[in-house]
Amino acid sequence: MSIFDVVPVTAEDHRRRARRRVPRFLFDYLDGAANDELTLRANVSDVRALRLKQRVMRDVSSVSTDCEMLGFKARMPLVLAPVGMAGIYARRGEVQGARAAGNQQVPFTLSTVGICPLEEVQAATHAPFWFQLYMLRDREFILRLLQRAKAAGCTTLAFTVDLPLPGMRLRDYRNGMLGGGLPGKLSKLAQLAISPAWAWDVGIKGKPHTFGNIAEKIPNPEDLDLYKTFIDSQFDPSCTWDDIRWLREQWEGKLLVKGVMEADDARAAVDAGCDAVLVSNHGARQLDSVASSIAKLPGVVDAVGEQVEVYVDGGIRSGIDTVKALCLGARGVFLGRPWIYALASRGQAGVEQLLELFQKEMATAMALMGVNCLEELGPDLLD
Ligand SMILES: Cc1cc2nc3c(=O)[nH]c(=O)nc-3n(C[C@H](O)[C@H](O)[C@H](O)COP(=O)(O)O)c2cc1C
Repeated sequence: MSIFDVVPVTAEDHRRRARRRVPRFLFDYLDGAANDELTLRANVSDVRALRLKQRVMRDVSSVSTDCEMLGFKARMPLVLAPVGMAGIYARRGEVQGARAAGNQQVPFTLSTVGICPLEEVQAATHAPFWFQLYMLRDREFILRLLQRAKAAGCTTLAFTVDLPLPGMRLRDYRNGMLGGGLPGKLSKLAQLAISPAWAWDVGIKGKPHTFGNIAEKIPNPEDLDLYKTFIDSQFDPSCTWDDIRWLREQWEGKLLVKGVMEADDARAAVDAGCDAVLVSNHGARQLDSVASSIAKLPGVVDAVGEQVEVYVDGGIRSGIDTVKALCLGARGVFLGRPWIYALASRGQAGVEQLLELFQKEMATAMALMGVNCLEELGPDLLD
């Protein structure tokens, strides 16, 4: 951006502002991915490499991006993905994200490890939102969480299956976010000292920084090292499809399985009773060198697209990227980093502006491709 670019417009513009605003270790936690970040780059570049067909003279006077996703009537085929600790990127960040999503009529998904608890998000919004769940060893606690999600009016449960353990995110070690001993602590203090706007707005005025939904399970949730210890000890790596069957019996709402990449896993998810699958590699934060999610989308659509709704996330950075994913058979896309970049950069207003931009980009692309509704998008419109 030059000095004359005064207004952040794209996800990348917000990313640059976020980098200046939040402490380095938090920016890296958001921006980074597993190991050498090969899949992170592939997620973005594989979407970018797809080419659309321009078609002309087809009466595009009634272009609409309206759609329905798991019973949610949305203005566009976008969902705000669950992002742990979103509330550390802006003051009470999950509330701001949920309000932005409500105003733009798209679903918001609250992470198990969000800062704001279910009840706070519910109190702050009118639109129903979705809840993302990780399987913890303590099933009684899971049942209580499900009851809380139901009581908060959550209509869809997104159950994440690609995190039996956290991936190796090397930036978190390098910058002292995790471990690092005394040098790590000093480095974090220095990073906080050069982020005064964030320190005042979020660090001081945005408290408490507890993991609202699971606060009772972590002795001192403000300590990130203890949070990692908690994940290591509480997340259940012994999970199988039988647990999804169990979950299906417990949860009456819609069930989306988040994090399948292979057709046979998608079939297993459908057999276990889910209503939707999300093709995802967790934003490249888990297995580095796995394929991009967009590359895996067609295989999953072929396998289960007739039975359940199929979604994708990873590397979607614009409305045009969204149109490409729909051409490959996705019902909608989840946005991870882009909404947090916008949140960190300009709060709720930033997220709303970004969603508005995506909607306009989609509608414009559709008109230039000669289609009026999302159902008309298909592989024939990719070059
Ligand atoms: C900082 C960060 C935290 C995340 N936390 C969660 C989480 O708590 N639960 C979850 O299911 N996925 C989580 N994800 C993955 C996102 O939901 C989503 O799958 C991914 O970000 C999509 O890729 P994108 O960032 O390229 O859009 C997280 C992603 C990021 C970047």
